[in-house]
Amino acid sequence: WVRTRRDSKGGFSFIELYDGSAFDGIQVIADGALPNYEDDVLRLTIGSSVRITGVLSESPGKGQRVEIKATEVVPVGFADPESYPLQKKRVSFEHLRDIAHLRARTNTLGAVARVRNALSFATHRYFQDRDFLYLHAPIITASDAEGAGEMFRVSTLDPEAPPGAEGVDHGEDFFGRPTFLTVSGQLNAEAYALALDRVYTFGPTFRAENSNTRRHLAEFWMIEPEMAFADLNDNADLAEEYVQYLVRYVLDHCDDDLVFFDKWVQEGIIDHLASVADSEFERITYSEAVEVLEKSGESFEYPVRWGADLQSEHERYLTEQVFNRPVTVTDFPFDFKAFYMRRNDDGTTVAAMDVLVPGVGEIIGGSQREERLDVLKDSMQIKGMDEDHYWWYLDLRRFGTAPHAGFGLGLERVVQFCTGMQNIRDVIPFPRTPRNANF
Ligand code: 4AD
Ligand code: MG
Repeated sequence: WVRTRRDSKGGFSFIELYDGSAFDGIQVIADGALPNYEDDVLRLTIGSSVRITGVLSESPGKGQRVEIKATEVVPVGFADPESYPLQKKRVSFEHLRDIAHLRARTNTLGAVARVRNALSFATHRYFQDRDFLYLHAPIITASDAEGAGEMFRVSTLDPEAPPGAEGVDHGEDFFGRPTFLTVSGQLNAEAYALALDRVYTFGPTFRAENSNTRRHLAEFWMIEPEMAFADLNDNADLAEEYVQYLVRYVLDHCDDDLVFFDKWVQEGIIDHLASVADSEFERITYSEAVEVLEKSGESFEYPVRWGADLQSEHERYLTEQVFNRPVTVTDFPFDFKAFYMRRNDDGTTVAAMDVLVPGVGEIIGGSQREERLDVLKDSMQIKGMDEDHYWWYLDLRRFGTAPHAGFGLGLERVVQFCTGMQNIRDVIPFPRTPRNANF
């Protein structure tokens, strides 16, 4: 594809050509003596596709080491410059979202796609090298793993004329019961971890939460490792090592893309990523974090108080202002955390952890799981959950229960972190957010 064409007074043209394989394209010299120079070469504008045969030679010009002297230029598809929306001038990311089918052709979105690919591959490599088994958790489920009630319904019933005289008869639905898109593969991962020990899932997850923020999507990808005979400390160790591995992998494999992000998106990001890869994360309890925030004298939009969840502004204050590095916060109050988290002996907190990073806030949420049947039942009752519905999850505690722990890393959040991209809608190919499912 043609990125630019420049015609020289000497009667030839420079074509900047790229094929998506790397950040940089290659310069092509198309001589005026080519038989189709007037008819074709001079019609090659930005976005056109073309097949070029030529001789690769050292470039006398500045800015590139080699160039191609074309012997043949065969246009494949022209792109009308009057209507092609990606002309050379910069276009806002907002506008690019309206043309998401074309935006991968821009420098930025192309670089994001390569970093996202690198992070996905690095994920498999990290877990496979450590004997984790890749598990495919179901996408359609009857269980609300997070207990937050933010699920998309999956149904074949006619919404205009549902069966049942008084209310919908779900028995008539495809699965004979209400079903949803999964918010997390964790509960299924636990079943396999309690048979095969180390497992991880890597798949799409869905949340019908109506949050229009720069870090929430309705459809996002999550990686969820789960380990048997592991506690919160093992879990935090794994989470921190994994994040550092990802960052190191991107530094080692995406250098051209990172140079671009450093120059155009977030100045200093390369140095910043290098320091994250090399230095220890801070580890503090939720209670300590609340104390630090209360003592900060900072006026937050959401006031800080023990018992309230940390907001994005608090997370960022901790990582960016207080510690200036990633922070793993542990032992949150039982009240606002999910039912499956292991209750601590203090009776008020659970063995939960969030990994927070500068610029983004939470990228990982996880916990040690409640492996004691009676305590789990008690937690579920307090949270108003139907035990019968989770009978199989309780069975895992009835038969050969074992301490276990795991976490979920949001892929898009880590792509944001590694690229400096401000809005999560620009780090997934086709974002799904409230009132938007185009393309
Ligand atoms: O903290 P969360 O809700 O944890 C779980 O889902 C657990 N079941 C994970 C586990 O223990 N196996 O979500 C985990 C991560 C968050 O830290 C965040 O990075 C990402 O998933 N995430 C989102 N990313 C984009 N858009 C959203 N709406 C997200 N919600 C969570
Ligand atoms: Mg969370």
